Amino acid sequence: MKEVIRRLAARTEENRAQFRGGFAAFAARHDLSDWEGWFSPYDDIHALVLQNIEKCDIVLDLGAGDLRLALRLAERARRVYAVEVNPVVLGTALSEIGFDLPRNLHVVCANALDVAIPPGVTVAVLLMRHCQHFGEYFGRLQAAGCQRLITNARWKSGVEVIDLTRPRVPFEQVQEGWYACQCGAVGYVGQGERSESPPIEVSGCPACQKL
Ligand SMILES: C[S@@+](CC[C@H](N)C(=O)[O-])C[C@H]1O[C@@H](n2cnc3c(N)ncnc32)[C@H](O)[C@@H]1O
Repeated sequence: MKEVIRRLAARTEENRAQFRGGFAAFAARHDLSDWEGWFSPYDDIHALVLQNIEKCDIVLDLGAGDLRLALRLAERARRVYAVEVNPVVLGTALSEIGFDLPRNLHVVCANALDVAIPPGVTVAVLLMRHCQHFGEYFGRLQAAGCQRLITNARWKSGVEVIDLTRPRVPFEQVQEGWYACQCGAVGYVGQGERSESPPIEVSGCPACQKL
């Protein structure tokens, strides 16, 4: 599998399909704005994602790009569903992978927001720094009984593992500290006295009111 991933990585520039004619209309059709539809692999944080995957997990990789992470996830987890909207990125990747595609990796070319969450998904991966639909993903995953969400979409760097089963604190109850909301917004309330404390998982933040 290392060799397949090396070949995929070698085609990264060619696969940046956002620079091709027709991409703008495609992105508009799928409501992908502000770089949300841009393919750019996050090799630097894939190892962190893999550390948080158990053998028994059923993984949903949302915005799977050229499948280089999905292939590694499939080596670790019970099953992986990889959903990628861009047919040019995915088509090139699948032809490169060829008959090395593992049986426990199920690949779907579609807008992830149009696809039902497969039954039994325990953890979702959303590596999409420019995600404009975080709240929708969060709500759909929670409703489907998914337990964890591994993402860089809220804080934009590194990855966080969000426990989707935990109750959220209503925003108005937060007096002081960092917060991270289920709509995708993050921020700080107060004067900076608790700036070292971990963020509080909230619902109903000021950004939610604007949606
Ligand atoms: C920044 S790239 C990251 C690719 C991959 N997750 C990685 O870490 O290497 C984000 C990918 O998400 C895809 N994407 C964005 N919105 C999507 C959607 N609604 N449904 C499926 N894929 C989407 C883009 O086409 C792009 O390939």
